[in-house]
Amino acid sequence: MNIAVAGTGYVGLSLAVLLAKTHSVVAVDVVESKVDLINRGASPIRDELIEGRLAEGGLDLRATTDAEDAYARAELVIIATPTNYDPKLNYFDTRHVEEVVELVLDANPQAVMVIKSTVPVGYTQRLCEQYPQARLLFSPEFLREGRALYDNLHPSRIICGVPRDTAFDGELLARAQEFVDMLAHEAEEPEVERLVMRATEAEAVKLFANTYLALRVAYFNELDTYAESRGLDTEQIVRGVCLDPRIGAHYNNPSFGYGGYCLPKDSKQLLANYENVPQNLMTAVVEANRTRKDFVAEEVVRLLEGLDNPTVGVYRLTMKSGSDNFRSSSIQGIMRRLQERGITMLVYEPTLGQPDYYGSAVTHDLESFKRNSSLIIANRWSDELGDVRGKVYTRDLFFRD
Ligand SMILES: NC(=O)c1ccc[n+]([C@@H]2O[C@H](COP(=O)([O-])OP(=O)(O)OC[C@H]3O[C@@H](n4cnc5c(N)ncnc54)[C@H](O)[C@@H]3O)[C@@H](O)[C@H]2O)c1
Repeated sequence: MNIAVAGTGYVGLSLAVLLAKTHSVVAVDVVESKVDLINRGASPIRDELIEGRLAEGGLDLRATTDAEDAYARAELVIIATPTNYDPKLNYFDTRHVEEVVELVLDANPQAVMVIKSTVPVGYTQRLCEQYPQARLLFSPEFLREGRALYDNLHPSRIICGVPRDTAFDGELLARAQEFVDMLAHEAEEPEVERLVMRATEAEAVKLFANTYLALRVAYFNELDTYAESRGLDTEQIVRGVCLDPRIGAHYNNPSFGYGGYCLPKDSKQLLANYENVPQNLMTAVVEANRTRKDFVAEEVVRLLEGLDNPTVGVYRLTMKSGSDNFRSSSIQGIMRRLQERGITMLVYEPTLGQPDYYGSAVTHDLESFKRNSSLIIANRWSDELGDVRGKVYTRDLFFRD
């Protein structure tokens, strides 16, 4: 099949590379440098499996900035453009999805469009009402950054949602089934669960899944806040709690807060979708993350007491070890709070090519970083801090997640 993928980020590029083994895929982006890299067999994102497949060649994949041409030739357009949270509107900014829909409707109104971007609950249905001539589906994406292709090769489930009451009802149901089968065919999990449901429910699945993950992180973080405040050993409590198989010993490692591109924005979006619906937990999930960062920042300030002109070393701006970007990482929330207190900071971030980050000096020299930091904060532990363990503040107790 001729497929166009709009957006060559984590979601778009992993799907393009996945499908280009069997299908003819054109990846579209507005950023020329990303397109050039892909056409040279290199990846604009860090993901071992994607890099491997691109370097190996043998894929029917090309990248372009000529969106109209790509969409005109495609039977299927997968939309994987960003949907950032707009704090003023209190809602996702979906304009990049609509840009693609409008271009496709101009260039090739017959094409089926599958929205893979995360959108507000009810969005695809509303879009169908706005563009009744559009053949739209929504398929939630569950991949993790850094393991994008791996997660599409080993999906936990594949879901596609069909809007109701469109002119193409029967056709869209068949195309949704075809889409989940197509992804399953490329995966290495023959028994993977495939669900075709209504689009609005599929959108809800995505936001409820991510908000549950945020809730779980927030829960173990609040457990840790309690233990720290009362002088208890968090590790012992977590181990004891998690031996109950209903709770499970996964995804329970304390941190400075949940972060990354998706959990903060998806939980805020779900909270916004609750307008006029009674709830307590959704608000708590969002607010717990602020409270946690306030607590961590206060702990850091407390540890600095008595030090003359201290410098706080910030070990990595990434959210997790292995990540290649700093989007909404929780350590930045700690930095903002320390900055408000006038505390000097020094950042060690080897992937950052600028001399300062929001007013704090940046170094690539780990040894001078260690020497010049009175205290080092690290959201995730790394063995390269082993020789200065005594001055590292981290809540990473299990060295994972
Ligand atoms: N990153 C994740 O782990 C993840 C997981 C699941 C779902 N999602 C969702 O998927 C969507 C994409 O996320 P991502 O992390 O891949 O984003 P990204 O920022 O890594 O990539 C998006 C790409 O789209 C391009 N783009 C913007 N406007 C465009 C347009 N009009 N036409 C073509 N390309 C355009 C950008 O240049 C960028 O390269 C978001 O809605 C996100 O919430 C992300």
